[in-house]
Amino acid sequence: MGQALGRLLALAEVPVLFVAARRASKARRAVRFIGSGRPLTVGPSAAALTQASLILLTTSDGAVASVAKDIASLAEDWSGHVVLHTCGSLPSSALLPLKRKGASVGSMHPFQTVPSARAGVRSLKGCYWGVEGDAQARKVAGRLVRLLGGVEFSVRPDRKTLYHAAAFLSCPTIVTLMECSRLLLQKSGVPARVARPMLAKFVAEAARNFADLGARRALTGPAVRADWTTIRRHLTALRRSSPRTVPVYRALVRAMLQLAGRQRPPRGLV
Ligand SMILES: NC(=O)c1ccc[n+]([C@@H]2O[C@H](COP(=O)([O-])OP(=O)(O)OC[C@H]3O[C@@H](n4cnc5c(N)ncnc54)[C@H](OP(=O)(O)O)[C@@H]3O)[C@@H](O)[C@H]2O)c1
Repeated sequence: MGQALGRLLALAEVPVLFVAARRASKARRAVRFIGSGRPLTVGPSAAALTQASLILLTTSDGAVASVAKDIASLAEDWSGHVVLHTCGSLPSSALLPLKRKGASVGSMHPFQTVPSARAGVRSLKGCYWGVEGDAQARKVAGRLVRLLGGVEFSVRPDRKTLYHAAAFLSCPTIVTLMECSRLLLQKSGVPARVARPMLAKFVAEAARNFADLGARRALTGPAVRADWTTIRRHLTALRRSSPRTVPVYRALVRAMLQLAGRQRPPRGLV
């Protein structure tokens, strides 16, 4: 996240003064990727960070609070500085040690998936960002989002975990389901070169229908048609070829029927 965001901001001509990491080698590598900035290692030698008017904290979630505390200890007065983190599940209060010393604090979370720095340079352009924090921090976050061609929306700080659960439910879970499908396709004899692009196209169309038509009208397939014979045959085939998929399949059919407002299937089917 840090490298992708750093590179995009550098490309948008935001001056990147420093790139800080735990290890010097990582900081140097990140500077090469970003194409700008001076490498720093987190710790007392990072006092130069006080020269930056804006600090973007992109560590893993578990390190946000402790790194904020470390950064806060670098100066007695942080007024005039803005610190933003990119974590989806934590509110900006995770940056309290900096706020106590006068910094404006906030969070700007991209509702986007970033599996690598290179992928992030593509996917973070024009994406949606959940923003919260104090007024000055939100103003600066909004400016950054606009520079990246994105869309900003506000998120309640006390609901960030729920908000993040929503992001989690519709991204890595979809990838997991796609891989379950791919394995079933493989067992069905579908050529490997076809399976992944075919699934990608399939899911992209479902996503488009979801956006255009809403969830209910985008639903298709035997469950919403109340075709219990086909569901029963699916379950028999899955029990034989992929028993671990059965509980996932059943839970999803139950959720799907509830969403579709359908009558209950025959007792014991799902
Ligand atoms: N990836 C996504 O799809 C995505 C999407 C939205 C938001 N985010 C958010 O973006 C943030 C970064 O995510 P990521 O995917 O880039 O994670 P990541 O690839 O695991 O990178 C986390 C970075 O944090 C550094 N770090 C961990 N503990 C540290 C500490 N105590 N001091 C200094 N640095 C420390 C790690 O350094 P080392 O290399 O030394 O271990 C690593 O460079 C997270 O808050 C995440 O929730 C990620």
